[in-house]
Amino acid sequence: MRAENGQIIKLEDYLPADFVIHQVDMTFDLRDGHADVLTRLVMQRREGVAAEAPLELDGDELSLTSLALNGTPVSPQNYTVAPDSLKIDDLPAQDQFTLEIGTRLHPEQNTKLMGLYRSNGIWCTQCEAQGFRRITYFLDRPDVLATYKVRLEADKAAAPVLLANGNPVASGDLPNGRHFAEWIDPHLKPSYLFAIVGGRLDVLKDSLTTISGRHVELAIYTEPGLAERATYAMDALKRSMWWDERRFGREYDLDVFNIVAISDFNMGAMENKGLNVFNHKYVLLDSETATDADYAGVETVIAHEYFHNWTGNRITCRDWFQLCLKEGLTVYRDQEFSSDERSRPVKRISCVHTLKANQFPEDQGPLQHPVRPTTYREINNFYTATVYDKGSELVRMLATILGEDKFRAGMDLYFERHDGDAATIEDFIACFAQTANMDLSQFALWYNQAGTPRLTVSQSYDAKAGTLTLNLQQQLDKGAAGTGTLPMHIPVRFGLVGANGQDIAAEAASDDARVSGDTIHLTTASATIVFTGLNQRPLLSILRDFSAPVQLQYEESEADRLALARLDPDAYGRWRALTDLVGDSLADAARQWAKSGPQTVSDTVLGAIVEAADDTSLEPALRAQMCSLPGETEIARLVAEDVNPEIIHTLRLQTLARLGMLGGETFRSLRAELAEPAGEFSASAASAGRRALRNCLLAPLSAAAGRPDDAAKQYAQATNMSDRMAALTVLVHQFPQELVSQDALTDFYNRFESDPLVLDKWFALQAASPNADTLERVEALLHHEKFKLANPNRARAVIGGLAGANPSVFHRADGAGYRWVCGVLLQLDSLNPQTAARMATAFRSWRSMNPALRQQAEAALRQLAASENLSRDLRDIVERTLK
Ligand code: PHE
Ligand code: ZN
Repeated sequence: MRAENGQIIKLEDYLPADFVIHQVDMTFDLRDGHADVLTRLVMQRREGVAAEAPLELDGDELSLTSLALNGTPVSPQNYTVAPDSLKIDDLPAQDQFTLEIGTRLHPEQNTKLMGLYRSNGIWCTQCEAQGFRRITYFLDRPDVLATYKVRLEADKAAAPVLLANGNPVASGDLPNGRHFAEWIDPHLKPSYLFAIVGGRLDVLKDSLTTISGRHVELAIYTEPGLAERATYAMDALKRSMWWDERRFGREYDLDVFNIVAISDFNMGAMENKGLNVFNHKYVLLDSETATDADYAGVETVIAHEYFHNWTGNRITCRDWFQLCLKEGLTVYRDQEFSSDERSRPVKRISCVHTLKANQFPEDQGPLQHPVRPTTYREINNFYTATVYDKGSELVRMLATILGEDKFRAGMDLYFERHDGDAATIEDFIACFAQTANMDLSQFALWYNQAGTPRLTVSQSYDAKAGTLTLNLQQQLDKGAAGTGTLPMHIPVRFGLVGANGQDIAAEAASDDARVSGDTIHLTTASATIVFTGLNQRPLLSILRDFSAPVQLQYEESEADRLALARLDPDAYGRWRALTDLVGDSLADAARQWAKSGPQTVSDTVLGAIVEAADDTSLEPALRAQMCSLPGETEIARLVAEDVNPEIIHTLRLQTLARLGMLGGETFRSLRAELAEPAGEFSASAASAGRRALRNCLLAPLSAAAGRPDDAAKQYAQATNMSDRMAALTVLVHQFPQELVSQDALTDFYNRFESDPLVLDKWFALQAASPNADTLERVEALLHHEKFKLANPNRARAVIGGLAGANPSVFHRADGAGYRWVCGVLLQLDSLNPQTAARMATAFRSWRSMNPALRQQAEAALRQLAASENLSRDLRDIVERTLK
């Protein structure tokens, strides 16, 4: 299954490897300029494999320095080597043998940040998905499980800290100022979970005793001087470990748990066994440098990587098509953790928000793929919102369908049955089918059929009969992925709400088996359900908790939505009703504007937002979610076709101003009441919620005033980063030409110049500024002394700020935004293909733009596609996007 450049890998071609690897022993000799790696593999031909079959190992940009079989050098006619492969003939037919492979690496030149590389002088590795083959020739696939022993040698001054997976077993000094450390990982693991780190690092230490009494040393390593900023991350780690013991019965299984924060990292973080490596963005923070969203992000990612220890590491994936087996499940687990630690409805709303913003466009555009794909060219491009976030939704649906107890029993069985395995989605589902004694084959379609099903709902009330008749229909279109469209099992949670704001206990006619408790189980293309005994017309609160990842199509009157936004006893339901009302109003206005000129959203709709902001029966964080207008990209998604981002931008800003006008007094007094209390900062969810509400009112008030005064004042008085960023965002986005805004930007830079994570915010904010001269400014930012294209966070700040968070500039009518982004992507691609490819997905919705923009986008993409040296990563995205 080795991938040639451009070759398509197919799930149906899966075969186990011809050889097994029992044991891996590695020695790393780390030097400035190069690293020598000696790998000793204890291997054996798998039973039943032909005796003459050669061994083919994966490599990637490797250079072989030595090769020995059972201690004797392999003669050149018995092997064929290339940077991406090593083929050896004449191996023993049955017996175990040892293969010793020497490779020389150049970590300083590794800008792809896959394999062994150096970040600010620190040696570190990234092996998922296929980075281990950049360290040594190997059967680099997740179903090859082995135990590892690692010895690291380095200059003691350059790398006083030497870490690897598992437990430390020995360390000591060597001649010439060098030293060594040895680590053994007793657990079977695939190569993608391998990691080493070496460098001058500070450490924050702690410890914990697990539920069965195992003592675990915890450590978070950072660049010098920053360890204190890992305090919150350490706290989140301990809470995660505690939670997984109680909620899922999962205990930690090594003597140490190490986390290292690295500044050059392609993704968020990585769950290497016992040695998590993190993008420092998800470890380092304090109130002066991080927003409340950053705190929540750290908590989530720390938990996520820790939870992988069981869902991903102890039980891993058979092949990369099963990626959602570990990712979807682990996202589900981290979301549950945050829900328990913070507010469940607030967390759920923010997840639904993210799902619709990130996954829906993917599922409805050219990059569509099933949660479990069946083909890929470049696996790096499948770490997607569909695999992660929709993958999590599928696990959540399973929990909804089975109920809490049976779901937990299924998880228990999964852990018991598959511990130490490289498993598949079928294995996973079989555990739940067994514990619930249910046929889950229809449910399994969710993993294989791409696209977002439409759920069309209609209702009619018969006052005389006292019945409410609901009709539900599901429909799935064949999209870009071309997968099946069979009806699936859709759990639809609902409530019937009385005028008093309480759920009415509804009876489904003749004990309809499709209704159980508050859930309708829709398993057919269409279903009609009758509720009886209703002496008033209830309000239908549909798809509560977003119980299935579907597109809801429901002709719901404005009056019903207004009433539900006010009355639904279910917090999610209130948010849903209001958000749909506001979103549809904005989308309708934008469509109409494109046809017949300027439009507005009604005062009734805006009034409902003001009312929600002021409803003290709700927690502030929820009110903040209810009264934030949808973003421009979100409105564009609702408009769906012939989108004009310019109009959406103007419409949204005007609506913000009208909201500020209408809410004026209410908003101002709320802001005064919610003022940050003097004294110690609290990162608690409750405090963060108050800040969120206070800060989300600043934008409408400032837009209404047409003056930057409030924002300038808040910026000047800010005592934490959430307040500071909220103010600066309003200044830079609403009042770019004002001197105060420029001054604030300068002040921000001067304050945080030496702090890369805060500087990323400074870069991103300017790239996201919706102004006529933004492109020129962003071009200048590329030449700023602090800009470094090779640093993924910095590259993402500028490219993502523009392409992902600045629709009116990215989609500029003259196509200059598209061309600029493609130009930078081409540069980035030569350094870091994975990050370039990820950024290129900003083009995924180009076909929903108006015809003039479509033409510009296509031209820019075609020009990019015509470049000769595109990486496999970027080419794959560009070509699929154009298809
Ligand atoms: N497996 C990591 C996570 O989700 C993500 C990752 C993928 C990191 C590939 C690096 C490379 O937790
Ligand atoms: Zn993960």
